[in-house]
Amino acid sequence: MVDLHALLMTTHIVALGGSLLRPEEAEKRSQWFGQLRQLAVHLEGNGRRLGIVVGGGLPAREGITLARSSFTEPYRLDTVGIAATRLNATILQQSLLDIGCNVCPIIPHSTDEAAELLLEHNFVIMGGTTPGHTTDAVAVALARDSGAPHCVIATNVSHVHDSDPRTNESAKPIEEMTLAELAEITGLEALGPGESAAVDPVAVKWAIDSGMRLAVLDGRDLTLLEDAIEGRPFVGTLVRTE
Ligand code: UTP
Repeated sequence: MVDLHALLMTTHIVALGGSLLRPEEAEKRSQWFGQLRQLAVHLEGNGRRLGIVVGGGLPAREGITLARSSFTEPYRLDTVGIAATRLNATILQQSLLDIGCNVCPIIPHSTDEAAELLLEHNFVIMGGTTPGHTTDAVAVALARDSGAPHCVIATNVSHVHDSDPRTNESAKPIEEMTLAELAEITGLEALGPGESAAVDPVAVKWAIDSGMRLAVLDGRDLTLLEDAIEGRPFVGTLVRTE
């Protein structure tokens, strides 16, 4: 019989930015995958359940750019982006299956389906679901549907900043904030197909609606992800509900 309470305490949900799968230098790519595989073995050994929602990264941007030369309907462009997230999810799923981890062999199409599958597998890996948001929002929905205590957003910046660090050199990192403060930075309006932000505004809205704490951290360093999953203090931004 499944002990639901114990299961909820050990279930964690991570949005893994698509750019993390493809560091610029080839050497770093195999290093990152190697570290992720090690972390997976360790987490499975500790009885953790992990729902991983993988972003589309480069294939999503390339696919959406290519598709734009033929059509501009946002719903269709988002559908192309979703296909790229599922491609990246498949790469990660196969990488963990390859080392014998208890990974769900299906890439779910919805967060309810993924939450059900997490009852049977240590790892459920998925990509996007429906048009109109990014995989950050899918991860928040999966955290809500699987009763996880918080949702980790692993991206390629160290923290949420008070302004965009890509365009403003003096942008300051924030260590702790509320969801309402995060919403002031990101807004709550959906992004267009392929557009990106520190955290997807739809994810912020859904986190507010479901009272979901967020941990935003740099997924290039997987020790930070492990800290957040194991409930240790982590380097990054903790976004409290209030
Ligand atoms: P991503 O989740 O990859 O966007 O979705 P991102 O925030 O840019 O993440 P990185 O770069 O991987 O870290 C890529 C695109 O796929 C569509 C949207 O068009 C999005 O911009 N998408 C994704 C959806 O429409 N629905 C989804 O559930 C997921």
